[in-house]
Amino acid sequence: MALGRGATTWQGLSPAGGGLARCRDDSYRAPTLARGTPSSRASSHALLLTVRAEFNMSDFDIQIWFLPIEEGRELAIEQHASLLDTAEHEKAGRFAFERDRRHYIAAHALLRVMLSSFVPIPPRRWRFKTGPFGRPEIEPTFTTVPLRFNLSHTRGLVACCVTLRRDVGLDVEAVDRPVPDINEIAMYFTQMEQVLLRSSVPARRHQLFFELWTLKEAYVKAIGKGLTLPLDSFGFELDPLGIDFPDRHDDGRRWFFHLARPTEQHQLALAARNNLATTPHVSCSRVSLPSLLPIPDQDGATTQ
Ligand SMILES: CC(C)(COP(=O)(O)OP(=O)(O)OC[C@H]1O[C@@H](n2cnc3c(N)ncnc32)[C@H](O)[C@@H]1OP(=O)(O)O)[C@@H](O)C(=O)NCCC(=O)NCCS
Repeated sequence: MALGRGATTWQGLSPAGGGLARCRDDSYRAPTLARGTPSSRASSHALLLTVRAEFNMSDFDIQIWFLPIEEGRELAIEQHASLLDTAEHEKAGRFAFERDRRHYIAAHALLRVMLSSFVPIPPRRWRFKTGPFGRPEIEPTFTTVPLRFNLSHTRGLVACCVTLRRDVGLDVEAVDRPVPDINEIAMYFTQMEQVLLRSSVPARRHQLFFELWTLKEAYVKAIGKGLTLPLDSFGFELDPLGIDFPDRHDDGRRWFFHLARPTEQHQLALAARNNLATTPHVSCSRVSLPSLLPIPDQDGATTQ
């Protein structure tokens, strides 16, 4: 389905190809426009039209960007706080642990820069609203581009996914920790999943647990209900990858899932509503902190 007449594709910048656009608030340019498009000084409406013609994101694309959070990068992360808005600053200030606060800052800076790679809006200016179960969405009056997103943070990694229109949910988990006793967590899994977990050898069980867990979280995030939906009301099969709803509250044919290991220590799962006949195309890209930083002024200061 096209976004507008003659506009079937959108082009975002690729973190793999030369890094992200470095941006500052008062001169932010989307990557295509940065290549000298005359309309870069035109009105925002004209900018959107230009981007619509040139962007390369189809209705089937789902982009995932992930950012490993390494020890010793505390200062670099703090610099990204300038990309956040007041509400995010307030939320960041409420975390009990510094590590959680920094992951929050990194995730929201990543999200803002990622969104700005699709629409030439300065990262700091994006506005969000929160759904009834806490899912953030782009404020609908803010842009006509139907971008949808979800983000996730875990120890050592933050990640965001962006797509057009469809519901998406993303979950990342650090896997360098033991799996809980199956008896203690059985209530989160269907009978089939429990059998699968119990019958696996320990090494496989470890992997299986994190695959199932991230898939479950990704699904409840995609539908926006979060953990208010009982996790044993749906179950996964991994080969082939699919979801089953014993109580028939949803239809597994309408969902698409993707599993990845962005780093050796992390499991990632994506859930996406799939009302279209064609399988979504997922691209997963690693980004680095410096690539999100604002452009330094000539005197070395940054403007945000
Ligand atoms: C959504 C939820 C499953 C996330 O679990 P998690 O694994 O601990 O956290 P993740 O890092 O993977 O994801 C957190 C992000 O998901 C997003 N999110 C929050 N609620 C969400 C929801 N209901 N659906 C989809 N995404 C949601 C947010 O962006 C959040 O990050 P942020 O707080 O930095 O903005 C869990 O927090 C939950 O169930 N929340 C709903 C609770 C609820 O019912 N709230 C109602 C009152 S607001």
